[in-house]
Amino acid sequence: MPEHTPAAATTGGTGYTEARRRGTGRTGTDTAADAAAHDSRERARAALERARRRTAALTDCLDEGELTAQHSKLMSPLAWDLAHIGNQEDIWLVRAAGGSDGVRPDLDTVYDAFQTPRADRPGLPMLSPEAAREYIARVRDRALEVLGSPAPDGADPALFEGDFVFGMVAQHEQQHDETMLATHQLRRGPAVLDAPDPPAPTSRATDERHGEVHVPAGPFTMGTSDEPWALDNERPAHTVDVAAFDLDEVPVTNGAFMRFIEDGGYRDERWWHPDGWAYVRKAELGAPLFWRRDGGSWTRRRFGYVERVPPNEPVMHVCWYEADAFARWSGRRLPTEAEWEKAARHDPETGESRRFPWGDGEPDEGRANLGQRHLRPAPAGAYHAGAAPCGARQLIGDVWEWTASEFTGYPGFTAFPYREYSEVFFDSGYKVLRGGSFGTDEVACRGTFRNWDLPVRRQIFAGFRTARSSGGAD
Ligand SMILES: [Fe+2]
Repeated sequence: MPEHTPAAATTGGTGYTEARRRGTGRTGTDTAADAAAHDSRERARAALERARRRTAALTDCLDEGELTAQHSKLMSPLAWDLAHIGNQEDIWLVRAAGGSDGVRPDLDTVYDAFQTPRADRPGLPMLSPEAAREYIARVRDRALEVLGSPAPDGADPALFEGDFVFGMVAQHEQQHDETMLATHQLRRGPAVLDAPDPPAPTSRATDERHGEVHVPAGPFTMGTSDEPWALDNERPAHTVDVAAFDLDEVPVTNGAFMRFIEDGGYRDERWWHPDGWAYVRKAELGAPLFWRRDGGSWTRRRFGYVERVPPNEPVMHVCWYEADAFARWSGRRLPTEAEWEKAARHDPETGESRRFPWGDGEPDEGRANLGQRHLRPAPAGAYHAGAAPCGARQLIGDVWEWTASEFTGYPGFTAFPYREYSEVFFDSGYKVLRGGSFGTDEVACRGTFRNWDLPVRRQIFAGFRTARSSGGAD
């Protein structure tokens, strides 16, 4: 999403609010509520601590000059992201949830994402990296005190449902961590990040040749009303009737995308949306961002290393217009957001929607490439254990997937806790992306999670898969 300023939840939860408000003097009948409250609190604590370890890992590896530099006009200086993370935590956990005046309210203007566009942020009176680290540590100490305390009088009870506000802040930090990872990718200079390679493919499909899966016509439940940490734009759950369609089993690979290039795809107006055609000519696009032609083959720069482009890996760093053009060139189209979510969540045996393609259990390293465990997508066909009931692979993790749909609110949408998280972006030309990337943490990724960005953006870890209508046949 263009700015990671979090939002929402009005329903669902675990009954934790009541449990925490009762305080001491509980009876035996409170045992289940107490256990749920404890589990929820520990989940929130773990999510906050995991986010902070990652924030430190992304910033401790660079010196002050690199942290205060702007590596791309598309991105903030990393030192801005660092203190902005703490400022949002100050606003939501220390002040809104804790009922206090906060640690540094005087910093709100400098770190308000809506007041200063990214390109102009180097001119802000930012904290030094050292001062930013000290600030976010002080905020965190106060926030963890709030996590174990009763809700203050006058606080919005919805913020405490299932510890929503703590989950919201953990997601916010992880979203900025992914943004900072994208800044690392844009940065020039020697490599500073490292990680093992992801697992090899486990499907029979090999090297660039993958099939498609069929999703029969019928209604399914889209969105959620009971996921405690779901944001406002994922709510409420509602029924959507989807016509039959076929979907790529795996994301489109680099090898497949090379064939589009070799066939003159970037030079053939037939495949392009009119705005995309104007953009591709003006920006002189001829390959995904970070690719270079090297004799008869392609190389790419990836976190400071130059390497041959692996043909069997999902393509990424393509904008929506490039994804759309590839789909048209191949006689297909991008899936709608509803099609993507039905493929990812609908269980035809129960008629219910799952939290994830594999079921309701949390993501783990055998199911999906999330959490920056690896610094690249896994080859197409990996993660057998993460397949959806329809057979599609890698819907969660690896690369964000562009969909055909424009970002808008679901029927019955209510902005929470404030309009700027998502409502102000509705119906403004943003395209929806789904599924998360290798750089997305599990706390900010689920079957209902919606990301959005402008159709020209290429620096995000985004790829796509294609679909076609099945003509009504099941
Ligand atoms: Fe943010």
